[in-house]
Amino acid sequence: MLEKSIEKITDGVYPFHMPGHKRQSEWTQGLYDADITEITGADNLHVPVGIINEAQCYATKLYGTVSTIFMTGGGTAGVLSAISAVCGFGQDVVIARNCHKSVYNACLINHLKAEYVYPAIKHRLGVYGEVLPADVDTAMKKSGAKAVVITSPTYEGIVSDIKSIAKVVHKNGGTLIVDSAHGAHLGFTNYFPKSARELGADIVIESAHKTLPCLTGAALLHICTHRVSFAEIQKALGVFETSSPPYPILCSIDRTLKKIKETDLFTPYVLRLENFYSKASQLKNLYLFQSAEFDKGKLVISTEKTNINGFELKNILSQKYKIELEMAMPNYALAMTSVADSNDGFDRLIGALFEIDKTLAFENKSTFFAPPKCSKVKELWEGGIKEFISAKKAVGRISNEFVYAYPPGSPIIAPGEHFSAEVLEYLSYLSAGGAQILCGTGNYPDNIAVLKEKD
Ligand SMILES: Cc1ncc(COP(=O)(O)O)c(C=O)c1O
Repeated sequence: MLEKSIEKITDGVYPFHMPGHKRQSEWTQGLYDADITEITGADNLHVPVGIINEAQCYATKLYGTVSTIFMTGGGTAGVLSAISAVCGFGQDVVIARNCHKSVYNACLINHLKAEYVYPAIKHRLGVYGEVLPADVDTAMKKSGAKAVVITSPTYEGIVSDIKSIAKVVHKNGGTLIVDSAHGAHLGFTNYFPKSARELGADIVIESAHKTLPCLTGAALLHICTHRVSFAEIQKALGVFETSSPPYPILCSIDRTLKKIKETDLFTPYVLRLENFYSKASQLKNLYLFQSAEFDKGKLVISTEKTNINGFELKNILSQKYKIELEMAMPNYALAMTSVADSNDGFDRLIGALFEIDKTLAFENKSTFFAPPKCSKVKELWEGGIKEFISAKKAVGRISNEFVYAYPPGSPIIAPGEHFSAEVLEYLSYLSAGGAQILCGTGNYPDNIAVLKEKD
């Protein structure tokens, strides 16, 4: 039943979204046949000494890391494991406020005291920009934290200066964990920014399924320096990864890395991208966002100077052109690309954008909304008695849950933060625009969890 529905949903539709294999048989064919378990000779991901160890050693050599570990539970398993391995229970940690919810969940379960750094809002797109080394320095000194977690590149392709941040973190005696869930394709061509692996980060987590042609769930945890204990990471992975890691996922990582080593996948990919950017520069109203340190594998199509919003653009592409994008926000829609994309796919997208562009009017939107800064009143895990009320009534109260737009899955408000009128306004704006607003325990906007006020 489900299979038939998926067949129907995807029939004739071009995928500018993850997973990065883009449903191309070259990357997926035969993987079902590898669905075995820890039988004789098949090794065990949790204590690899045989064929899985061989595959991981191959990856470690390819990346030039201290150790590269395969994961099947996505970047989420890697983030939870890295933070749990590096931070002792109840310790301080510096995290960038635009981190994915997995970072917050790691803080929650380890009762970490989170000191936030707030990247500035970038451009008129309303997206978070890069994390500044000086802000990391201040936050480490203020909190005494010995671990720092940041996201680079972000969902929208914004890259931070990892080299300088790593220097700051190490000078303060800390460990730098970089969530590069969106950066698994970096480091193989100069066309993209360098990977955090090459720039001094201690641990780098990559969701291989997002930007490499791997099966969903495929991810890599790179230990890049000797500041990190392999044993602690393995112990934590034993907690957060399934005890039955799917072999098809492991094989899809291995197949991809072998192909990267043996064939030049990136030159044709870069040519396709360059061709696309060059054609897109002729658009009249829509435009492609770019900045200095930016991952051009993300096509961030701005609607900011048009009379439609990002959600409307995504819907038109889906309904009229059978092109599915990854996500939309008020001022942009985002297409994800990979080495598995075809010339035909790029041609379809640029053709559709030109047709749509002609129907649009120029509108220089005078306002743009960006995530408001929420004041932190309590730690993430510091509970209390909670109650469920509507978002409108929550204004002025302390949130007891995460509320986020999905994608991208970075909390707009986190537990322990003050639910302000600006937060409500921003969430209402996103929701009216078409974003899917989710919350952990409740049902946005009718029932969200806040801390009960004293009677
Ligand atoms: C920045 C970031 N980190 C981590 C994750 C989690 O990765 P995964 O979906 O592979 O578990 C995501 C997922 O979207 C993400 O965007």
